[in-house]
Amino acid sequence: MPKVLEGRTALVTGASSGIGQAVAVALAQAGARVAVNHSSGGESAARAARVAQDIVQAGGQAIALQADVSKEDEVQALFARAEAEHGPLDILVNNAGIEQPSAIEDMTLAQWQRVIDVNLTGQFLCAREAARRFIARGTPPEGVRALGAMIFMSSVHEVIPWAFQANYAASKGGINLLMRSLAQELAPRRIRVNSIAPGAIRTPINREAWDTPQAMNDLLKLIPYGRIGEPDDIGRAAVWLASDDADYVTGTTLFVDGGMTLYPEFRGAG
Ligand code: BGC
Repeated sequence: MPKVLEGRTALVTGASSGIGQAVAVALAQAGARVAVNHSSGGESAARAARVAQDIVQAGGQAIALQADVSKEDEVQALFARAEAEHGPLDILVNNAGIEQPSAIEDMTLAQWQRVIDVNLTGQFLCAREAARRFIARGTPPEGVRALGAMIFMSSVHEVIPWAFQANYAASKGGINLLMRSLAQELAPRRIRVNSIAPGAIRTPINREAWDTPQAMNDLLKLIPYGRIGEPDDIGRAAVWLASDDADYVTGTTLFVDGGMTLYPEFRGAG
C-alpha cells in the first residue's frame, strides 16, 4: 500500500476487532502511527494488544489503549496518552459502537441509554477532544494539507430504518447531523469531518447475519453487488478519507455498502 499517511498519527476507537481493527491495520500500512483503543480489560484488552503487536511485527507503529468512549475523563486520558506516545494527533476514527437489539415494548431505558452513550455521546466526546487538540496545534504539520481529519463510523442505518434496533438506528441518524454540523463548523479551521457508512460487513457484531448458508442467502438479497463486505473494504476507504487525496472532501458520508441503500427489494417491483 502507498504510504499516503507517512508521519501522521491516528487514534481508532473500538479497534480490538471488526471494522476498527481493519481500519487500524490499514492506517498503519499506509504509514500512520496508530493508537488502538479498546473498551475494557480482559478479552478486549488481549485482542487490542494483539492488533497492536501484529502492526508492529509488520513494521508499523501502534499501541493499545483502554478507554470507555462514553466516559469524559477516560476520553481525555486516552487522547493524552495517545499523544504522549505518538505525538500530536492528525486523524481520529470515531469507530466504537455497539448493538443492543430489542422490541420497542421491551426495550429498557438502560438498553436505549447504553447504545446512545457509546455510539453517539462517545463520538461527540472524542470529536470534541480531537477538535480541541487540532485547534491548539494552530497550523498543519509540514507537508500536510489539513489541520486534522475526523472520520465517524456511521452505518447504512443512518438512513435505513431498523426494526428491533431503534436505539442503534437513532444513534446512527444522530451521527449524520453531528458529523455534518461539525464539518460546517470546523471547515474554516481546515479540519475535515466525514463519515463512512458501512453496509453488512463480515464482523463479530453481525455474525448471525452471515454464518449459516441460509442467513447468507437472505443477506445477499439485500446487497446488489452480490457479496458481503469485508473489514478491509472499510479500511481502504478510511485511508483515502484520512489522506490528502481527500483534501477537498468534508461533510460527506461515504457509503461502502455494495448498494444496500439502493432499495434492492424494488428491483422489478413498485
Ligand atoms: C450493523 C450490522 C448490519 C449492517 C447492515 C450495521 O450497521 O452493525 O449488524 O449487518 O449494519 O444491516
